[in-house]
Amino acid sequence: MKIAILSRGPRLYSTKRLKEAAESRGHEARVLNTLSFSIEVEEGDPTLYYKNKRLGDYDAVIPRIGASVTFFGTAVVRQFEQMGVFCVNPSHGISVSRDKLRALQVLSRHRVGIPKTLFVRHSSEILPGIERMGGPPVVVKLLEGTQGIGVILAETSAVAEAIIETLSGPAKMSVLLQQFVKESKGKDVRAFVVGDRVVAAMRRTAQGDEFRSNIHRGGSAEVLELEPEYERTAVHAAQILGLRVAGVDMLEGKDGPILMEVNSSPGLEGIETATGIDVAGEIVQLIENEVLFPDIDIRQRLTLQSGYGVMEIPIDETSSLAHKTIADSKLRDHDVLVLTIHRDTISIPNPMMSREILPGDVLLCFGKTLTLRGLAPDRRSKKKRKPSKSALRQSSGE
Ligand SMILES: Nc1ncnc2c1ncn2[C@@H]1O[C@H](COP(=O)(O)OP(=O)(O)O)[C@@H](O)[C@H]1O
Ligand SMILES: [Mg+2]
Repeated sequence: MKIAILSRGPRLYSTKRLKEAAESRGHEARVLNTLSFSIEVEEGDPTLYYKNKRLGDYDAVIPRIGASVTFFGTAVVRQFEQMGVFCVNPSHGISVSRDKLRALQVLSRHRVGIPKTLFVRHSSEILPGIERMGGPPVVVKLLEGTQGIGVILAETSAVAEAIIETLSGPAKMSVLLQQFVKESKGKDVRAFVVGDRVVAAMRRTAQGDEFRSNIHRGGSAEVLELEPEYERTAVHAAQILGLRVAGVDMLEGKDGPILMEVNSSPGLEGIETATGIDVAGEIVQLIENEVLFPDIDIRQRLTLQSGYGVMEIPIDETSSLAHKTIADSKLRDHDVLVLTIHRDTISIPNPMMSREILPGDVLLCFGKTLTLRGLAPDRRSKKKRKPSKSALRQSSGE
């Protein structure tokens, strides 16, 4: 295979290791500088030029997109996607995970623990917001910070207010406020997800009085045998954001994992050094297994067939489908296919006709849009009821 590693640093540890791992498994690997591409958008012929030469054929792309080039970098990845090249992480997943607020918003609909987080525009909203979070101390974060830069612990509401006003004033930086998870005491867990499993995990511990455990902030790392709940959370979070490779950061809360952030270009040095695991090799192996299945935008493809689409149908007690098997539901007679049933934390893909539909389920269906709309619950009559947690879940990530 011919693999492109998009990176601005050919000498960086992660870039070197990925190239090495690909070559040692018999592939051709080239490091391409993300910023040296030009993107040509033309009907029927999406093309990339690299250093002013038309780019040759590649089988797969490993994007390593740094925070300072997210916009251009994701545009390059998106172009590879249009050209049908397998990208280890899709452009959409990279964009969503890069923005801490956007990522937490998407994750909040799913059963993964996240810290209560606040985003406001007017300074008059800050103090009441802090009170709603349980009072100070709170963490103030830049929306797009990395390596611990732009993450500040504010001991009092007045300090939090002053920091936010300073950053969002003339500097116009967007910040969020977050509940401080005290019990994690300067420690966090980094789980490295490749495909549908965690291939390596470490615990990072902050230096001295520091509360940020980033290795770039002097934190130290030790290998960690992950508890299943942490592993499940990490894999689930990566999947929700549509990432095949992700560094998932979690705090150890008193009731289990609290998800901090999901990195789409996680560094390899810390994790490989702490665990001795060949993480780069795992990534190359993932490519070997999945290269024939590049992402397709299923909605985009299906809506081309006019009148048909994919929709999620939440089932409650009043639904005419509740407690029926799929066969008895007669959905198939109405040209509706049930693709997956989401039930609490599990999903049942390609359910059998004998499978019973239960209240609380969310059915992912393909069929005539008009028929599907008729199956959706009537929102007007649901005023007093709160939707169940699983009914809120969605499958597409956003
Ligand atoms: N809400 C929080 N409560 C406790 N510690 C936190 C909180 N948010 C961040 N931290 C600490 O700060 C570190 C950096 O925060 P993070 O959101 O991951 O930003 P970055 O993208 O800069 O790494 C985390 O790894 C963790 O140790
Ligand atoms: Mg982090």
